[in-house]
Amino acid sequence: MALAREAEARDPFTRGHCSRIASFGMAFGINLQLPDADLVTLCRGSFLHDVGKIALPAPLLLKPTALTADEFDLMKKHTEIGDLLCAAPHFKAVRQVVRSHHERADGSGYPDGLVERQIPLAAQIVGLVDAYDSLTNDRPYHPARPSHAACETLLGEAERGWRSVSLVREFVAMVRTRRFDRLRRRAEEFDDIIGPANPLDALSHGPEPSTPT
Ligand SMILES: [Fe+2]
Repeated sequence: MALAREAEARDPFTRGHCSRIASFGMAFGINLQLPDADLVTLCRGSFLHDVGKIALPAPLLLKPTALTADEFDLMKKHTEIGDLLCAAPHFKAVRQVVRSHHERADGSGYPDGLVERQIPLAAQIVGLVDAYDSLTNDRPYHPARPSHAACETLLGEAERGWRSVSLVREFVAMVRTRRFDRLRRRAEEFDDIIGPANPLDALSHGPEPSTPT
């Protein structure tokens, strides 16, 4: 899948990551009864959220130890680079996900230091499922954790003010039940509304569907 797949392929630890978070994000969106247009944004935003990493040096992406302050400043740039890569008038909602998926509710995130409801809901959801998938899979800097431990970590982040408490509680409640698997299967049935298999194709071929009012 063009740039999104290229960005993912540069890091073997994140292989399959975008597909999984698209599934998680859409399942959560269905759980929240979001309109179809928002599900499309969640799907495309999940695939493209880290597309800006394509411009970063591979040793930075693969570094197995903690980043220095300068390295972290460089890593943060992937949100703004991705935003520029997704520049198209009809891609506004997806660009918000790409730019804002590392914002935190208390304003300590990046790149804009947005707070609470300033952070688009789709960006909050992609940030949340991105973190859940990262916690439950091996990374250079930590081994995979079981789902229940990942949920506890996310709840802790919400208590610290990084994430919406209500959103995280809703997500954890979904994950802890069989509802999650059922919703993920339903998410896969939404292929017909997602459009092109390559979300970047939508930049030139397909507008975002409008939300029914
Ligand atoms: Fe990211």
